[in-house]
Amino acid sequence: MRLLAWLLAACVLPAQAAEDPVLMQRGEEQVMGKCFLCHGATGDSSSPLYPKLAGQNEAYLLKQLRNFKSGERDSNDMRKVVSDMSDDDMRAAAHFFSNQQPSRGKSAYGEMRAVGERLYRQGNPDNGLVPCRDCHGENGAGSDKLPRIAGQHTLYIETQLSLFEERKRTNDNAQMQDIAKRLSVDEARAVAEFLRGL
Ligand code: HEC
Ligand code: HEC
Repeated sequence: MRLLAWLLAACVLPAQAAEDPVLMQRGEEQVMGKCFLCHGATGDSSSPLYPKLAGQNEAYLLKQLRNFKSGERDSNDMRKVVSDMSDDDMRAAAHFFSNQQPSRGKSAYGEMRAVGERLYRQGNPDNGLVPCRDCHGENGAGSDKLPRIAGQHTLYIETQLSLFEERKRTNDNAQMQDIAKRLSVDEARAVAEFLRGL
């Protein structure tokens, strides 16, 4: 029986979640009604104050929305946005944004980027900083549970790193605090600069 269930699942579920037309439509309504002013119609937000959501991982997006709603993650803007959203609304918005094309930014600071890339790929053996790629992946695409950080706005990345460090953002299973506190302000900026163009 178990083998049969596995075979069935393997056939029915493609490696990447397929677009569900009903969820996409419902998601688009949510986005055009409530999200686009800050995050852009496809989640490719142009302002560095608002994170890019296009191509972000679906399970991660849904978790963040639920965390904003329950108060586990705090944000003045997002608390208001999710207050009247049902779980199905959040599911639809997450599905919609995760199926949009992510974009990368341009970075002009070559030297800073090189420092950031080294931290991303090798960490810092001197102070025990684990390489970011161990969790966020070779190309910064994250995984089902872990966020895509490639292409994200520099300012947003820096802000989140300092929120983790100060324990103002605590919905990460305590994984990011230890990392953030091993990065100096300059290093956090360098890694963010690298990620923007990744
Ligand atoms: C008034 C502006 C505003 C609107 C409207 C808005 N957001 Fe946001 N959103 C933000 C800000 C600001 C943040 C960053 C919060 C922080 O600093 O932690 C954010 C963060 C998020 C995150 C977390 C992203 C990450 O990488 O962790 C998700 C998911 C999200 N928003 C989804 C939505 C959805 C879905 C909608 C529409 C239903 C929406 N937002 C509408 C301002 C907005
Ligand atoms: C041990 C695994 C691990 C390592 C190593 C790691 N991260 Fe993370 N990261 C996480 C987890 C877990 C989250 C939060 C997931 C959640 O909120 O559900 C996260 C979240 C983030 C976020 C917030 C993304 C968003 O969209 O809001 C940023 C930025 C980030 N990490 C940057 C980094 C950087 C830069 C490094 C390397 C210096 C790094 N991470 C190393 C596990 C890790």
